[in-house]
Amino acid sequence: MSALNSLPPGPTSHPIVQLLRYSFRPLAFLEDCARWGETFSFRLAGFGDMVQLTRPEDIREVFRGDPAILHAGEGNALLATLVGDTSVLVLDDAPHSRQRRILMPPLKGERMLNFFEVMQSEALTTARTWAGEDSVRADTAMQSITLRVILRAVLGIDTGDDFAELEDSMKRLLTEARHPLVLVMYNLFPPKRHANSRILPFYRLKRRFDECLYRVIAKRRAMAAGQRPACLLSDLQEMQHDDGSGISDVEIRDAVVTILAAGHDTTALSLAWAFEQILPRADVVARIEAELADVCEGQLPRPQDIAQLDYLDAAVRESLRIRNILPFVVRVLKDDFTVGGVTYPAGVILCPSIHLLHRREDLYPQAETFRPERYMERKFQSHEWNPFGGGNRACLGQAFALYEMKVVLATLFATLTMTRPEGAVSKPVRRGIAVGPSDGARLQAKYRNNLADA
Ligand code: HEM
Repeated sequence: MSALNSLPPGPTSHPIVQLLRYSFRPLAFLEDCARWGETFSFRLAGFGDMVQLTRPEDIREVFRGDPAILHAGEGNALLATLVGDTSVLVLDDAPHSRQRRILMPPLKGERMLNFFEVMQSEALTTARTWAGEDSVRADTAMQSITLRVILRAVLGIDTGDDFAELEDSMKRLLTEARHPLVLVMYNLFPPKRHANSRILPFYRLKRRFDECLYRVIAKRRAMAAGQRPACLLSDLQEMQHDDGSGISDVEIRDAVVTILAAGHDTTALSLAWAFEQILPRADVVARIEAELADVCEGQLPRPQDIAQLDYLDAAVRESLRIRNILPFVVRVLKDDFTVGGVTYPAGVILCPSIHLLHRREDLYPQAETFRPERYMERKFQSHEWNPFGGGNRACLGQAFALYEMKVVLATLFATLTMTRPEGAVSKPVRRGIAVGPSDGARLQAKYRNNLADA
C-alpha cells in the first residue's frame, strides 16, 4: 500500500464532488468530515490530498515545524494570479523570509495609530448612510471602509484620479475574485493558459489595475524622498534587501497588491460577522455600550481609548473564533513530517483547521455560544485561538486588522443603535477563498445621538 493510501480516513466520493461540496457549503462539509475523527483527510480536485488537523497539540507541532519542509507558499499558489509571483503569500524558504522582512516594519502594531483618523472618518461616513436606510448589508459597507482605509495606508492619499482609479479597479477585480466557485474556475481556466485573455473579466481588470499602479509607482519614484507621503509605498521604495539591492517595481507591485487583497476583504467579512454575532445579543450590546460610555466619556472614541476597550476587544476575538473567515491554513510537505505520532509523506497538504479547532468543547465549553467573557477568564495560546494562522506564516496584518475592527465597531456603536431585522439568517457561504454571510449580515440602524454629526 502506498503511503498516500494510508492517510487518515475521510470522505471517499470523487474529488470533484468533494470540491463542489466544499465550494457550496464549506463549513458544513468540514463539520460533516469531522465524523471521521479528530484528524481526517479529503481530496479537492486540482488541489491534492489534504489532512485536516484539529488537535491543538498537532497544530502547535506544525506551526513550530521546519518551514523548509512545510511550504505554505506552494499551498497558496492559486493566489499568485492576483498577488504576483514575488508576493510573500506565495513564496517559501529564503525568498519568503526576504519579502516578509520587508513588509513587517510598516505593519507593526505601533504604526496603527497613524490610521485612526481615516478608519474613524470612513466609519462615520457609513453611519450617516446607514441611519437614513431601512435595512442595509453590513458586508458591502465594511468592504468599502476597509478598501479605502487600506488604500490610504498603502498610497498615503485618499483623493485624486489615481486613488479613484485604483479604488474602482480593485473593487471590480475583487468582485470577480469573490465568486463562490473560484476554486472550480481555477481548475477550468488555469492562469498559465489564460493570463493574457481579453475575454475573461478577471484578467482584463487585473491589467487595468496594474497599469494604473505602475504609473503611480513611477510618479512616486520621480519624487524626492522627502516629498513622498508617509505610507507603505514610500516605505517600500526607500527599503533595501539585506544584500543592499533596492526593491524592484515588480516586487513593489506585488507587495502592494498583497496588502490590498489580504488586508481588505478579510477584515470586512470579519466585521460583517461581528455584527451578525453581536447584535442579536442584547447583553453583549449593553456591555459594549456601557464600556464606551465609561471609557470615552460620552464622546466619539479617541485614539487613546481604543486600547482601553477590553470588552470590545474580547467581543472581536470571540467573533473571530466563532465565525472565522478562513476555515484552515495549508502546508505542503516537501519531505516526511511527523505530527501526532503519524508520519506523512512529501506531497501531502497538512491543514491546521481553524474552524474545527475553534469548535472544540474542551477549549471552548458551549463552543456554539458567543461569549466574549472567555477571553477575560483565560489567555488562549496561538495553537488554541488562531484566526490569523501561525508560525513563520502568521498573518502580517493581525495588529492592523484587530485595530481597524475595534475603531470601526467602537465608532459605529457610539453613534448608532443597531439591530438585526427579525428572522434574519446569515449562512456561511464562499466569497472567493473566504467565508462570508449569505445575507451580507443585514442590519437596521438609527442615530443614537448627535455624535455622528461630529
Ligand atoms: C480579520 C482580518 C484578517 C484575517 C482573519 C487574516 C487571516 C490570515 C491567515 C489565516 C493567514 C495565513 C496564515 C498561515 O498560513 O498560517 C494570513 C496571512 C497573511 N495576511 Fe492576514 N488576515 C487578516 C487581515 C490582514 C490584513 C489587514 C493584512 C495586511 C494589512 C494581512 C496580510 C497578510 C499577509 C501579508 C499574509 C501572508 C503572511 C505570510 O505568508 O508570511 N492580513 N492572514
